Amino acid sequence: MPGLGSRIRTRIETLRSVLHFRPIELDPVQRRLARAVSVADLRRLARRRLPRGVFDYIDGGAEDERTLAANSAAYARVTFRPRVLRDVGAVDPSTTLLGRPLPMPMVLAPTGFTRIADPEGELAVARAAARAGLPYTLSTLSTRSIEEVAAVSDGPKWFQVYVWRDRGLVKEMIDRAARAGYEALVLTVDTAVFGRRDRDLRRGFSLPPKIGLETLLDGVIHPAWTWAFVRADPIRFANVSGQEAVGDGSDAVSLADYINSQFDPTLSWHDVEWIRSVWDGPLVLKGIQTVDDAVLAAEAGVQAIALSNHGGRQLDSAPATLDLVVPVVDAVGDRLEIICDGGVRRGSDIVKAVALGARACMVGRAYLYALGAAGERGVDHVLRSLDTDVRRTMALIGARSIPLLTRDLVA
Ligand code: GLV
Repeated sequence: MPGLGSRIRTRIETLRSVLHFRPIELDPVQRRLARAVSVADLRRLARRRLPRGVFDYIDGGAEDERTLAANSAAYARVTFRPRVLRDVGAVDPSTTLLGRPLPMPMVLAPTGFTRIADPEGELAVARAAARAGLPYTLSTLSTRSIEEVAAVSDGPKWFQVYVWRDRGLVKEMIDRAARAGYEALVLTVDTAVFGRRDRDLRRGFSLPPKIGLETLLDGVIHPAWTWAFVRADPIRFANVSGQEAVGDGSDAVSLADYINSQFDPTLSWHDVEWIRSVWDGPLVLKGIQTVDDAVLAAEAGVQAIALSNHGGRQLDSAPATLDLVVPVVDAVGDRLEIICDGGVRRGSDIVKAVALGARACMVGRAYLYALGAAGERGVDHVLRSLDTDVRRTMALIGARSIPLLTRDLVA
């Protein structure tokens, strides 16, 4: 029978072997990020940190949000057919898009008014994208200008345009993007008129955010956001400021009123031809939602299309984009590159879209949640996680490179 002293020593050793205290993290952003292991976690954090109107503008979709839900649900329906014993010792998710090598098949989508999530806004996202080597698409409705973004990022940059009633303004923005070294132009074609966003209407949400009694209270409950917002320079439509045709964009307006008065609802395939005549580089049509239009896009000679319903923010009951990948790839996959936009929350979603035949995915909300949750470091964090997820998923389904990621690996 061992003596009391030795029994106590054994107990202490047993306890020691299981006790493990994480070092206390003093940096609050790092502390937050350490617990955010998924996009859903980042969304929850953003929801806590952002005023409700801001969060709902980012998070919400059109009308009953059926398409918003359908985009993600389509990914959930696809299952893998994993192959084993295939040597996945070195997984390589690199690919090419529009002739440029990319570390993985992903593009950061254009998102308007990014500074409402964090004062650094588009600059933070562009810097994080450049560090990851991924293309960042700057929105026409950005809150940092074409030139400001170019000044902080030497990574691949794309510029997104809408067709404004004032074609001179469109031409001028395209010229500025070309001069600033943006590599591709993304023409959004699903916004002839603005979608109805019930959440924004209910809250009377305007851009820049207006301070009424409700928002004032909201601001008090979200002091970190409010303090950062108040200290930063005013949020404005950075690319159109100084343009007489549209005012300087500093007045608070409902986005629907602004867009419906500025964007041209007569937008047609002639405008695509016109854009091609004023832009030399690759053109991506974003917002294609049928095989018929994908065929017309191929006939119009564009280099790529983004299958997109604007993240479910425009026409509710539009089809989930992932469901379009197979028919569109089968119809025009040999004539242009196909990007799948909307609903990506995991690296495995990107793997599914690429296995079905997409060249890459566009990701918007995932990085906006990260930006709202933890600023620029949040965006670094989510891009790193998606990269790790893509690699792990490829390993688990037995595809060590993108050419080996074929349709037979999904069901
Ligand atoms: C702008 O493009 C939006 O979807 O709000």
